[in-house]
Amino acid sequence: MKRMTRPSKALIDLAALRQNYLTAQTLHGGRALAVIKANAYGHGAVPCAHALADIADGFAVAFMAEALELRQAGITRPILVLEGCFDADELLAAQTHQIWIAVHQTAQIEMIQASTSAPKSVCAWLKVDSGMHRAGFAPEAVKEAYQRLIACPAVASVTFMSHFARADEPDEYATAAQIQAFEMAIQDLPGERSLCNSAGVLAWPDARRDWARPGVLLYGASPLPAAFSAQHPEQKLLPVMTLQSEIFAVKTLQPGDALGYGGTFVADRPTRVGLVAMGYADGYPRGVPTGTPVSIDGKPSRIVGRVSMDMLNVDLTELTEAGLGSRVELWGRDVDINEVAQHANTIAYELLCNVKRVPREYIGQ
Ligand SMILES: Cc1ncc(COP(=O)(O)O)c(C=O)c1O
Repeated sequence: MKRMTRPSKALIDLAALRQNYLTAQTLHGGRALAVIKANAYGHGAVPCAHALADIADGFAVAFMAEALELRQAGITRPILVLEGCFDADELLAAQTHQIWIAVHQTAQIEMIQASTSAPKSVCAWLKVDSGMHRAGFAPEAVKEAYQRLIACPAVASVTFMSHFARADEPDEYATAAQIQAFEMAIQDLPGERSLCNSAGVLAWPDARRDWARPGVLLYGASPLPAAFSAQHPEQKLLPVMTLQSEIFAVKTLQPGDALGYGGTFVADRPTRVGLVAMGYADGYPRGVPTGTPVSIDGKPSRIVGRVSMDMLNVDLTELTEAGLGSRVELWGRDVDINEVAQHANTIAYELLCNVKRVPREYIGQ
């Protein structure tokens, strides 16, 4: 029967996700919360959580609704909400559903102090601002915050956490300074510790503590420079998402023909181009220039002209075998998402989170 569906999809390899999680767990030692906020960086939080449920020590999400979605889907492992509670209702939800909460500001401590229900029902992750200056208690305020928290009848435990601003720069001193500031702030206080995001796990052995919080590495994208990854083959990550489509029209441009919106690509020789069913409405970045890598039936090629809402063009001039129905990979095993991100002036995180409209198809269960 003739296919009626647009051949564009995000293939999600759950076996690769599991492998990357195990890599993080092994490198870091101790336990690791798989960070699956933002719909698992575009990969689908519920299927990813189910795929990791028997091996992950727990999960982390950004806000309460993301955590509740996982609980409703039957995920029973620990879940940490990284932004903590926004109001008393969220605190009650955390207590009811045994969701761990970050506590990064005084108003959140006051909320917990005011809680009269369910003694010892709150696992608080006290966030120390060790130098990022985004969220968390200043080092000199940490002791008092800890004492206020631990005195609350509702609090069962306090874990200390901090987050790095520049761990993806392996030669940058700021991360070492953050590690030191964190330790100074909590030196005599009892409780488990957590510092490492993906870059911390990969590049900062000194930062390894009781819990890691890897995110982007689970999805097979290293946050570190390519040169660092090349020097650490033992840290090999497997791409989890393959964004792919097919060629659904072919034409040959003559010298001087301008292609697509803005006519940004002008052929200087007969140029065979393939039209691909993928555009910025699917999350492929509009800003990439001609020359951005793609792969066609496994062979390297490039984007030509401007990406439009539902379509983009690729160069088939050297790929004489390629034509209607050829498989086009925008990123995945053949095309490094970090390279596409560089062409788009962004980071792999943003590309992954932005994927939309295309169906996600799960493999490797
Ligand atoms: C507090 C915290 N921990 C861990 C992560 C995971 O970071 P990454 O995806 O770089 O591993 C994030 C993500 O932004 C975060 O905000």
